[in-house]
Amino acid sequence: MSATIIDGKAFAANLRARIAGGVSDFRAKAGRAPGLAVVLVGEDPASAVYVRSKGKATREAGMQSIEHRLPADVAPDVLLALVADLNADPGIDGILVQLPLPPHIDAQAVIAAIDPDKDVDGFHPINAGRLATGLPGFVPCTPLGCVMLLKSIHSHLAGLEAVVVGRSNIVGKPMAQLLLAESCTVTIVHSRTRDAFAHVRQADIVVAAVGIPGMITGDWIKPGATVIDVGINRTEAGLVGDVDFASASQVAGAITPVPGGVGPMTIACLLRNTLVSAGRRENVAIDLDALDAPKDSAAC
Ligand code: GUN
Repeated sequence: MSATIIDGKAFAANLRARIAGGVSDFRAKAGRAPGLAVVLVGEDPASAVYVRSKGKATREAGMQSIEHRLPADVAPDVLLALVADLNADPGIDGILVQLPLPPHIDAQAVIAAIDPDKDVDGFHPINAGRLATGLPGFVPCTPLGCVMLLKSIHSHLAGLEAVVVGRSNIVGKPMAQLLLAESCTVTIVHSRTRDAFAHVRQADIVVAAVGIPGMITGDWIKPGATVIDVGINRTEAGLVGDVDFASASQVAGAITPVPGGVGPMTIACLLRNTLVSAGRRENVAIDLDALDAPKDSAAC
């Protein structure tokens, strides 16, 4: 058996087209474009690539992209003052401080300084709490993209056994919360789990976000399961996920490739959150059902 390949690149392109439509509607009603500010501290090459891609995608969606670059040795107070300025700027709907930050800066303090209602990354403790308690807020982009891909495979997620491998604040924990909100039975597997294999092996849905190249091989996967690979590991063999695609795709019912699976969804969901933020801030209705779950496209 060979799995259905979940084409995240095509899904993200469709989502971005719908967002662009929503942006032009927003612009007509609000008289301005949604604004996304991205802050990059230092010269980390991977972060610089991400920030460039985010800026390009933001402009392509018809939004305003504002980029701030600060030196690696910037004083924490200077970064916090920039965040305060962005919080107060009425033309800015979303603020993203690219992580990781240099070690002399307390990333949690910077995240906590962002206005939760402009926190389109969904990393602020207020938004984590909103997600955990079912209140409207911002959901981190990568887990949100994973749920969209899962819904393209499963019309109902309720009751399914879901195993999330990894417990980061950015992916694992919010992913588990989102799956719980969809009424899955959720298990988080992590470095201290006694028998990770046994948990993963009984899962209908596996989300791998652990950062270990090829850790999950085909023998871990229940036949027919849906496998979402969040891993982006740079190895000598190139970019690989946390799942060994060659063996897992022989067993799974559906699987995301790396690259071209979850990755493109992260930026698309960032744009989605920014549009949603702009709508809330300007009292312009955004049709979330139409934006998130298209009914008329086979690719989505
Ligand atoms: N670094 C890697 N992924 C992300 C992300 O989604 N948001 C931010 N702010 N930094 C990141």
